[in-house]
Amino acid sequence: MKRGELVYEGKAKKVFRTDDENLFMVSYKDDATAFNGAKKGTIRGKGLVNNRITNHLMQVLESKGIPTHFVEQLSDTDTLVKKVLIIPLEVIVRNIAAGSLASRLGLPEGTRLNRTVLEYCYKNDELGDPLVNDYHILAINLATQEDLGVIADYALKINDILRDYLEGAGIRLIDFKLEFGKLPSGAIVLADEISPDTCRFWDTRTGEKLDKDRFRRDLGGVETAYGEVLKRLLGPDTTH
Ligand code: TMP
Ligand code: ASP
Repeated sequence: MKRGELVYEGKAKKVFRTDDENLFMVSYKDDATAFNGAKKGTIRGKGLVNNRITNHLMQVLESKGIPTHFVEQLSDTDTLVKKVLIIPLEVIVRNIAAGSLASRLGLPEGTRLNRTVLEYCYKNDELGDPLVNDYHILAINLATQEDLGVIADYALKINDILRDYLEGAGIRLIDFKLEFGKLPSGAIVLADEISPDTCRFWDTRTGEKLDKDRFRRDLGGVETAYGEVLKRLLGPDTTH
């Protein structure tokens, strides 16, 4: 599969055209940003780790009936995916209070929530990805009511599947962010990534943070934490 023209460069990934008009190639970078790009850095080996973890989890989800954009891993950092139109929403699922929810509601991080919380942010860098609800989404045509129903249903199912799966690897799924896209047929599929960049993962036993909060909060041991998640999910021989 030949890498074609660059279609889009994001903070952590590049997307290229391929010789098949229905497929894109995603190339994961080691670049890391936080706080809407205000904090910048590099996490050595992150591209490889996030590529492999994402592809692994997408395949787990596919096997449980969730449609995704995943097609084939091409190399350590490159993956072939179905071309989709991204729905401009960050879909956030929370099991335990942390991060912006903890700040917004004045809850100590780690507070148990009585039920799963689903949130949406409007994907718009200039505005800093503001929080929106169903009314905003329908009022400004970010998605239809029908799309939102499908997205919420998938997001909650994905949470159930991933929570169980990760628990088996000694990882507690605190919260995470998903993005969905539309195929030319109109079908909605899971897109983007599922990685330590986009999830909060805490060690089940010790509570140690194994995700991008180590970078955001200057906790050190960032590469080790990312490598640890990869090792727990894919085995000890996957880091090189
Ligand atoms: P938050 O607590 O900062 O709102 O983040 C909630 C979850 O969403 C957390 O697992 C990190 C993820 N996330 C992203 O993947 N991208 C983002 O731009 C933000 C703000 C959060
Ligand atoms: N990735 C986002 C950014 O670069 C925010 C974050 O993950 O903290 O702004």
